[in-house]
This record gives sequence, structure tokens and C-alpha cells, in this order.
Amino acid sequence: MAGVLEGRIALVTGGGQGLGAALALRLAQEGAHVAVADINEQTARDTAAQIAAETGRRTLPLQVDVAEEAQVSAMIDRVVAEFGRLDVAVSNAAILIAEEITEFPAEKWRAVMNVNLFGYFLVAKHAARVMKAQRSGAIIQINSKSGKKGSFKNSAYAATKFGGIGLTQSIALDLAEYGVRVNAVCPGNLLDSPLWINSLYAQYARKWGISEAEVRQKYIDQVPMKRGCTYNDVGNVVVFLASDQASYMTGQAINVTGGQEMR
Ligand SMILES: NC(=O)c1ccc[n+]([C@@H]2O[C@H](COP(=O)([O-])OP(=O)(O)OC[C@H]3O[C@@H](n4cnc5c(N)ncnc54)[C@H](O)[C@@H]3O)[C@@H](O)[C@H]2O)c1
Repeated sequence: MAGVLEGRIALVTGGGQGLGAALALRLAQEGAHVAVADINEQTARDTAAQIAAETGRRTLPLQVDVAEEAQVSAMIDRVVAEFGRLDVAVSNAAILIAEEITEFPAEKWRAVMNVNLFGYFLVAKHAARVMKAQRSGAIIQINSKSGKKGSFKNSAYAATKFGGIGLTQSIALDLAEYGVRVNAVCPGNLLDSPLWINSLYAQYARKWGISEAEVRQKYIDQVPMKRGCTYNDVGNVVVFLASDQASYMTGQAINVTGGQEMR
């Protein structure tokens, strides 16, 4: 599908690192010019510079807190001022704070909601105002298999991801008549991502009294296809949903889980 997004204008939130950075690169490799937005200004800048150097596409680093409406609105306006339009908005920024329900500080639970669900609402709202006027566009939420099935001691994250699917379906209805499609992608565990390498392996190893390698194996064993999800697995579906090849698809939440989640 090389060049399937030639000349399109794309935005990725949480694009400074991890899956978001990989998706921003992939969209550029497919021909899009890409705005890389992150709360971390330095990683947004570094990622945008690297993508421009690697692909020759135009990139725009932006600092944004997706939970702040004025900042999200300004981010979208900045993309339009720079590139003249917005074709693809990927709402990828999210945080994960996991606690057992009786020990979950309410403020932390609310913080997860603010970034993952309210942040997606704000990005979709302001991307949609541009796309509705254009009468074209694709909004894509990076969801999770935790948006389809409850997650042990991880209620805030799962609740925000379940909510993201309701939001996706609802705004797909709002925007269908304007030619704007809204879909979600639900990846399985990205076992080589910074989230796992810098934090989850160590946390779970401590909690369960096993080695980090055993934690990794335990998660691989839960997948029928016996491997973790990769950035490219997700990128393939994001590129498809962003492209005209998905022109009859809206309101979907597509699992990319090696068969781990089937609903
Ligand atoms: N890592 C996994 O195993 C996994 C699995 C399924 C789904 N996902 C989803 O993939 C997406 C990316 O996850 P990741 O593992 O790459 O995460 P990550 O923590 O490595 O990256 C998230 C990025 O979002 C940015 N960010 C955080 N809060 C923000 C805010 N308020 N405003 C703007 N940017 C903000 C961070 O600075 C960071 O650059 C998330 O939506 C996550 O839920 C991840």
C-alpha cells in the first residue's frame, strides 16, 4: 500500500514516543505530511525532525495537553494554518494508572478519564469541526483490547477505553452524512513498547514474584498467535482506515490482537 496517503495531512496525538511515534512515521512513509503532538515538547520535536529526515515529508511538532480544550482547539488551528486542511486525526495519547478498586485514589482515576476519554472527545470535536467543513476526513482512536473486556486491577483504563468505543460509534453517526469516518483500533499488548519495557515487566515481576522474562512469556501464552502485537500490526490497520480503501467503514472498533479478543 506504499503511497496510499500521498499528500494527505495527518495528526497524531501522543506522537512523541511509543506507538504514536511509530504511527506518525508510518503515515509519513505512506505519503502523508504529519503533525506530531505531545504533552512532551522535546519528544514531539525530536520525533518530528526524525520523521522529516527519514521520509522527506513535512512535519510539524506541537505541544499539547489533550485534556485542555483551548490547547486542543489551538493545535487543530495550527495544523490547518500550516497545511491548509486536516485529513487524518489519530487520537493516540493515553495514560495508564492501575490500582485495585478499593485502593484507587479518585483523583488518579479521574486523571485517566481526563486524558484517555475526555482527551479523545476534545481531539475528535475539534478535528471534526474542520473535517465537517471539508466534507471529508478520518478520525481514528487508538483504543485497546481493554476496550472490549474488563482488565484486572485496571478499572480506570478499561472504563476509558470502553467509553472510547461508545464515543466512536456515536460520533460516527453524527459525522457520517458529512463524509467523515470515525473508527477505533484495539491493539493487544505491545510487548516491546516503552510502557512494557520501562514499567510493566518490572511491576508485574515484583507483584507476582517471577522474573521479567516469565512475565513476558505469560502474556505471549495468552495470545493464540503466540506473539506480542507490533507497531506495524497496528500501523497496517491505521493506514487502511485512514485511506480511501476504508471508505465504507465507520463506527468500527477493530481488534489487532492475534486472536486474543474476537468480539
Ligand atoms: N503499550 C501497549 O501495550 C498498548 C496496548 C494497547 C493499546 N495501547 C494504546 O496505545 C496508545 C499509545 O500507547 P503507548 O504504549 O505508546 O504509550 P506511551 O506512554 O509510550 O506514549 C504515550 C504518549 O502520549 C503522551 N501523552 C500522555 N498524556 C498526554 C496528554 N495529556 N496530552 C498529550 N500527550 C500526552 C506521552 O507523553 C507519550 O509520548 C495508547 O492509546 C494506549 O492506550 C497501548
